[in-house]
Order: sequence, then structure tokens, then C-alpha cells
Amino acid sequence: MSAYLDYAGLGKLRPRAVEAMRDAVVDVLPHGSAEIGRIFPARRRARALAAELLDCSTDEIALVTNTSTGLHLVADGLDWREGDEVVVFDRDFPANVHPWRMRGVRLVWVPMRDGGYHLADVEAAIGPATRLVAVSHVNFATGFRIDLDAVCALAHRVGALVSVDAVQSLGVLPLSLADTPVDFLAAGAHKWLCGPVGTGIFFSRREHLPRLRLPGGWFGFEGANDMLTKGAGHFRYDLSPLPTAARAEGGMYDVLGMVGLAEVLAELSEVGVSAIADRVRHLTQRLCDGLRSAGCAISASTDDDAWSGIIGFTHPAVESVALARDLVAADCHVSHPDGLVRVAPHHWTSEAEVDAFLAALTQRVR
Ligand SMILES: Cc1ncc(COP(=O)(O)O)c(C=O)c1O
Repeated sequence: MSAYLDYAGLGKLRPRAVEAMRDAVVDVLPHGSAEIGRIFPARRRARALAAELLDCSTDEIALVTNTSTGLHLVADGLDWREGDEVVVFDRDFPANVHPWRMRGVRLVWVPMRDGGYHLADVEAAIGPATRLVAVSHVNFATGFRIDLDAVCALAHRVGALVSVDAVQSLGVLPLSLADTPVDFLAAGAHKWLCGPVGTGIFFSRREHLPRLRLPGGWFGFEGANDMLTKGAGHFRYDLSPLPTAARAEGGMYDVLGMVGLAEVLAELSEVGVSAIADRVRHLTQRLCDGLRSAGCAISASTDDDAWSGIIGFTHPAVESVALARDLVAADCHVSHPDGLVRVAPHHWTSEAEVDAFLAALTQRVR
């Protein structure tokens, strides 16, 4: 039996998104402007569902192509000052380091310890010059989940902003931005949201929007469409930028992707992220038990306050890349980032898949 345990790499596009996108490709897009009105509202629907998922206002959401683009909106949109520092995390995914590095600000690194991060180290890295803390909710390789509320408290105490890469948590772990006061967040939809590749979600807290320099495109202005729809006298350039995050969405977009994104977000809302988290917790515990029995070392804490959908592990007798490749060849889809074998089950993973993977693993490390 095959097992798919690579949701941290690439989610499986959900069947109802496949269906909706197939309908759009077959019944809508070949007819040009004649039928496009049927799917054009998908972007508005996706924005509203993203806001529901994150417990924020629709005005604070922009739809983007991936995590990197969302993080760059923050890095490129803030007015950096001489001497500004950004706190980053050792062994974080490069998408959450390069945007800040490229601004030329001083990076202050939080060390990784035992596959995770200590809040005391975060506190020590934050100082009077800290302008922003660039944190990933879940480490992409070890699966360590950081306490975002605690990071926000530490950062906000000195007036620093918090920008979160949530691509390894959004869709699997509940996060309410009404309760957790992060300032910015970005997540591609192609992993745990099981959405189309090339779609993603960006959040900016409303109070930051006036001073965040977002790219406008031509859709990013009040009444941009009027010149096309309202007739003579509506063609003008002196339009006001939209006051919402959607200002960042620019011009024509991936309507097909938006159809799929709206569909996966709707399904997520119906199933409920808490139910998803409960099931993933159950599956990861089953995996951890099996991994330990097979003599594997789990790379980070999986306690209640640090677990996520990701488990990174090693085995003392078998090299990780070779082991992962061997498992994939046996139809057990895992990955091997940063010297670890990584398994990542989702709500839709069956116990039988978990057991098939554990059986294949045990055979290889005996
Ligand atoms: C933590 C983290 N950030 C970002 C990315 C990818 O960024 P993007 O959505 O821009 O491809 C990954 C991909 O593995 C990741 O694990």
C-alpha cells in the first residue's frame, strides 16, 4: 500500500478544487469574456474565506502567488531606517530570511536548540533597535511550533513588528489573528491548504496598511474598473489607492487558481481546523510511537505546546537522504530536508497509510 506523508512539501489538491478548476478550464476559459463572469468573483470569495480562516477582516487579506511574495510585501513595503534590526531564526526556511537580508538591515539570529527555539533566546535577540521579528510558525524540517503569542508579547514590548511565515501551519493548526496579535502573515496554499500551486494568502493588520508601500497595479485603486464599465468621463489616473490589503493584488490574476483556492478554503471551513488539528495530532502521535519503536530519533519536541503536522527524524544506522529516497521508491512519500527524514500527514491521511509507512521504515532500518 502506498502512503502520502508529504503535506509539508506539497499538499494533494483537494478533489472538489480539481472539479471546480476542471469546470473552469472546460466550460469558462475557452469562451473568453463571454463566460468569465461565472468565475471572476472567486477572488472575492477566496479573500472572505481566508479572513474567516484567520479570524481577521477581509480588508486585511490580499491573495498572492506564494509565501515569498507575501513576505516581500512586508520587507519591501516598510520604510527601513539606518540601524534597524530584524530578528531571524537559525535554520528557518530561506524564504523567510532572504527578503530581510536583501533590505540590508542587520540580522540578529535566534539559535536553534534541540530542533526548536527557546523563548529566552528570542528575548535576548530582541533589543531597542529591533524593528521586526521574522518568525515561522512551524519549522519546515523539525516541525517545532513556536508560541506566537509569546513572540508577539516580547516583540511588541519594544515596539517591534512580528511577521509570520505560516505556510507550515495554515490549514492544519488553528490560528486566530483576533487573539494572536501578529502584524503580518504570509502562507502559500500549496501545502497544508491543499490548494493550487501558485496561490497564497497575505495578511496585514489594518493599522499598518496606510504606511505599507504595496505595489498597486491598476486594480489597486478605488474605482479602477469604472473606466471600463461606466462610459465616457470615467477615464482618469488620479484615483486613490485602495485602503485594503487587496491593493497589493495588482492586475489580472490567476482566476483558475482562485477558483481552486476558494474551493479548498470552503471545504476547510466546513470541516473545521480544530477537527483537522485533532486528527493530525492523533496521526502524528501514532507516527512518533512507531518511529521510536524503530529506533529513530525525533528531531524536536512533540509536546502539546510544540507539536505540528511535521515530524523530522533520523536513524542512527541509515543515512537520511538514502532512507527517504528508498521509502519514496517503495511508494511512501516522505521528504528529506536539512539532513532529516520528514513525515507530514494530514486530515485525509488514513491510519493504514501511517502503518504502511511504519512497516516500510521498520524493514529498512532493521
Ligand atoms: C517555512 C517555509 N516557508 C516558505 C516556503 C516556500 O515558500 P513559497 O511559498 O514562496 O514557495 C517553504 C517551503 O517549503 C517553507 O517550508
